[in-house]
Amino acid sequence: MIFAANFKTNHTRASTLAYLEQLEQKIANNKNDKFYLFPPSTAILSHNSNVTIGVQNAYPARNGAFTGEIGLEQLEEFGIKTILIGHSERRQLLKESDEDIAKKFTFFKEHDFEIIYCIGEPLEIREQGDNVVIDYLAGQFTGIDTNYKNLIIAYEPIWAIGTGKSATDLEIATTHKALKALCSKPLLYGGSVNTANIKDITSIPNVDGVLVGSASLDVNNFVSLINTAR
Ligand code: 13P
Repeated sequence: MIFAANFKTNHTRASTLAYLEQLEQKIANNKNDKFYLFPPSTAILSHNSNVTIGVQNAYPARNGAFTGEIGLEQLEEFGIKTILIGHSERRQLLKESDEDIAKKFTFFKEHDFEIIYCIGEPLEIREQGDNVVIDYLAGQFTGIDTNYKNLIIAYEPIWAIGTGKSATDLEIATTHKALKALCSKPLLYGGSVNTANIKDITSIPNVDGVLVGSASLDVNNFVSLINTAR
């Protein structure tokens, strides 16, 4: 299983370091799972352990006049080779268009990054049923090379993110099955994953791991989530 923690705009550099140290200690004997941590950009660090550090976002350029952004040069300084692309918060709050996202994807693919590509539907699409959901999600693959070797997909229904209400097991099962038919890469579920639902979610066929927000912020909680899944 893949366990990925997305800190979003939480934690500092100091608290990320302390978190990482504790996480590594607690999962030291776990050789079966893969772990990722996406701290805020101020907390990215050169790091070599069984926890891969990735960046939540970056600009698709080596460097240049892109105020407020970081590019390839800044990531290289820390040996960062993993990136989240297409998170719904960037699509919605930061107004990243499908074209922006496809451009970003292509740039980081060309630089051999491991890409966790996020897709997910809003509630009004979910309410129209499975076929509409799948069509919508398939649309989010436009301009994306789904055969890219270093690709992981994260399915995160927007209405389930940060709401405390995850998708149902049936919704996850149906959607993941259809997504696997479109793209045979590792497929994560994200959206209100917690210690109470992790066991069920990770037991669903075609779920290869989870991308966790709120429930990852406390290291003990994240570790108990990992241990509960096993
Ligand atoms: P929550 O786990 O807080 O719902 O966030 C999910 C998410 O957006 C991870 O990228």
